Amino acid sequence: MKKILVMHGPNLDLLGEREPGVYGSDSFESVNNEIAEHCKQLGFDCEIFQSNSEGELIDKLHQARTCKDGIVLNAGAYTHYSYAIRDAIAAIKIPVVEVHLSNIHAREEFRHTSVIAPVCRGQIAGFGKNSYFLALQALKTILEG
Ligand code: DQA
Repeated sequence: MKKILVMHGPNLDLLGEREPGVYGSDSFESVNNEIAEHCKQLGFDCEIFQSNSEGELIDKLHQARTCKDGIVLNAGAYTHYSYAIRDAIAAIKIPVVEVHLSNIHAREEFRHTSVIAPVCRGQIAGFGKNSYFLALQALKTILEG
């Protein structure tokens, strides 16, 4: 069974109450329950992790390199400026699929740039919580063909 890590970055713990018009009204817990259910259906052994701290996200990426087969990552606002997270992704060999609930390309100018995109296998953005499920499906294809 492939082991995967779903990572949520800063402010995503407030899903459901944070700008619901942009990010949806489902709670963080219920989205995670649905992620876990999709993982089960895809035959993934899944761990879900959230942190508001850049360093903790980097530590988790480092740890994952030896015990996980792939990662789905919503890096939140770090997406747009964290060269440290970009370097951590570049440093590990397992595939990382970038995810966003909102269509970052249709929002404010500063969100149009993803500094992590060039080191991720692909990006899925704009489908609300379904972005995570599509990313899991993408990871399935990457890992199992
Ligand atoms: C986000 C988009 C980012 O620009 C924002 O800072 C977030 C969430 C998304 O999922 O749409 O925190 O990554």
